[in-house]
Amino acid sequence: MFDSALFIEEAAQKMKNEIDDIAIIACSGGVDSTVAAVIANQAVGDKLHCVYVDTGLMRKNETKDIEDMLSSLGLNLTTIFAEERYLEALKGVTEPEIKRKIIGELFIRIFEEEQDKVNAKYLVQGTIAPDWIESGGGVRDTIKSHHNVGGLPEEIDLLVVEPLRDLYKDEVRELARKLDIKVAERQPFPGPGLAIRCLGAVTKERVYSVREACSIVEEEFEIAAEKGKMQIPWQYFAALLPVKSVGVHGDVRAYGETVVVRAVQSLDGMSAKFSEIPYEVLQRISTRITNSLKESVNRVVYDITHKPPGTIEWE
Ligand code: XMP
Repeated sequence: MFDSALFIEEAAQKMKNEIDDIAIIACSGGVDSTVAAVIANQAVGDKLHCVYVDTGLMRKNETKDIEDMLSSLGLNLTTIFAEERYLEALKGVTEPEIKRKIIGELFIRIFEEEQDKVNAKYLVQGTIAPDWIESGGGVRDTIKSHHNVGGLPEEIDLLVVEPLRDLYKDEVRELARKLDIKVAERQPFPGPGLAIRCLGAVTKERVYSVREACSIVEEEFEIAAEKGKMQIPWQYFAALLPVKSVGVHGDVRAYGETVVVRAVQSLDGMSAKFSEIPYEVLQRISTRITNSLKESVNRVVYDITHKPPGTIEWE
């Protein structure tokens, strides 16, 4: 049985002993990094600098929501706006593993710049067990190099502290509840953000499309769940596929890309079952996506693949 109070106490004590200088933490607003930041803040207080990087690959309204949430937890927060740098670095890149590596490396580079500014010696990270197990840290083959792991350059000159390294998602959520963190019930969002939901090239326009589509999926599922029409899935989102098909708007031929809607039930992200969604809800999502993204998307499909054999994300 996982004892969250004891875990927090021990992790904070361990960090207190380990961190004798300035530390920085990358806050993404996700449950993992937020829990790690709050525990580190308890352990070292003023020595901790929280940095949020707006990669331009986040969900709709996410930056403001994250800033509000992190500040309300009493964390010392700096936001760095880096959308243009990410788009430039990802220009022309379509291979998922290369995207992840570029995103991870740029993320670290931005941190190194910040580290120089605040003179940090430690990097606290919210890495959890599935991140490194699926990145080949254990005996398994590399499935995907997760953001927090794959992007770390060998010569990083910060000492890495990972208090949640042995935990699974459900345990981290338990910690969040214990710490009264509002993000606790929120669905997971991958470190590389919308870049890995934009299959193919990552451009400003395509990121905009997938951001709108994700937002529509979230809204419609949440409304339907509130009305008792369905259970809210563990994770639910849209991805943009570089598959063009012929459509029709009014009586004019259209040729646009495809959005896939993904919704799964899972406990820890290691395995998952696709969720059964009422057709009525899927139909509203399809209509809204094709209406609001008329210029770029003219087909919406639903993914009925479990994990395994599929992964939850498409890249
Ligand atoms: P997959 O797609 O591997 O995803 O079945 C399992 C869970 O992990 C999330 N995910 C990530 N989380 N960095 C993260 O922090 C990543 O690079 C990453 N890739 C996938 C995914 O959203 C799902 O919840």
